[in-house]
Amino acid sequence: MNDLHASLLGSPPTLSVGVMSADLLHLGDAIDEVASAGVRLAHVDVIDGVFCPGLSAGAPFVAAVARSAVPDVHLMVADPLAAAEEHVAAGAGVVTFHLEATRHPHRVLQSLAGRGVVRGVALNPGTPVASLEPLLDELELVLLLAVNPGWGGQSHIETTPRRLEQVRALAGSRPVAVGIDGGVTKANIGRIAALEPDLIVAGSAVFSGDGPASAARELLDEIDRAHGGGNGGEHA
Ligand code: DX5
Ligand code: ZN
Repeated sequence: MNDLHASLLGSPPTLSVGVMSADLLHLGDAIDEVASAGVRLAHVDVIDGVFCPGLSAGAPFVAAVARSAVPDVHLMVADPLAAAEEHVAAGAGVVTFHLEATRHPHRVLQSLAGRGVVRGVALNPGTPVASLEPLLDELELVLLLAVNPGWGGQSHIETTPRRLEQVRALAGSRPVAVGIDGGVTKANIGRIAALEPDLIVAGSAVFSGDGPASAARELLDEIDRAHGGGNGGEHA
């Protein structure tokens, strides 16, 4: 188990900030600001316009992010086998791809084994959790999408409690971290944190207000309140 995987499994839930919602022309400043609040993971949504709508950024962008934060790369692309390798080389700490994107999810996970990254599999809201079962010994993270992928700022789909519980039941004693991505706000993050996921992604909730540092701090405080402390300025 690498250090990042171990820290995800620790409590309280780790906040990963969705940087595609930032002002991309001032991304370095935005990352420094959230880092000052204690955030270390930068969630990068890589969208190819084929797997889902939209078109974002790829490995060179991740390499730039890696200079200031640990990239938590969420591949929403149709060919994750090809994309995974280049994002490892770009310095990703987490590489997550979609189960729906490939007939060969096990092969993608094998290709990432021993590369020093946390291997994640993401599920769209409409994909049964049970489909993960054959992969559970080859992954470190399950990322549950609570929006249909494509863009930030959508409303959180309220199936999260049930789906999180399903992953926990299926994983049993395996050291599988679970993340929640999509529609996380200051209003609902406490409720989500109380479900005890390991990772929570927030994009527009951090970058659509007055300042990313104070927004991130507020989200971390909400996580703390739901968890009885732990993010006191030094979020892991
Ligand atoms: C959806 C992405 C999410 C999203 C998060 O396609 O995977 O990471 O951008 O943004 P918010 O937090 O605004 O829903
Ligand atoms: Zn994402």
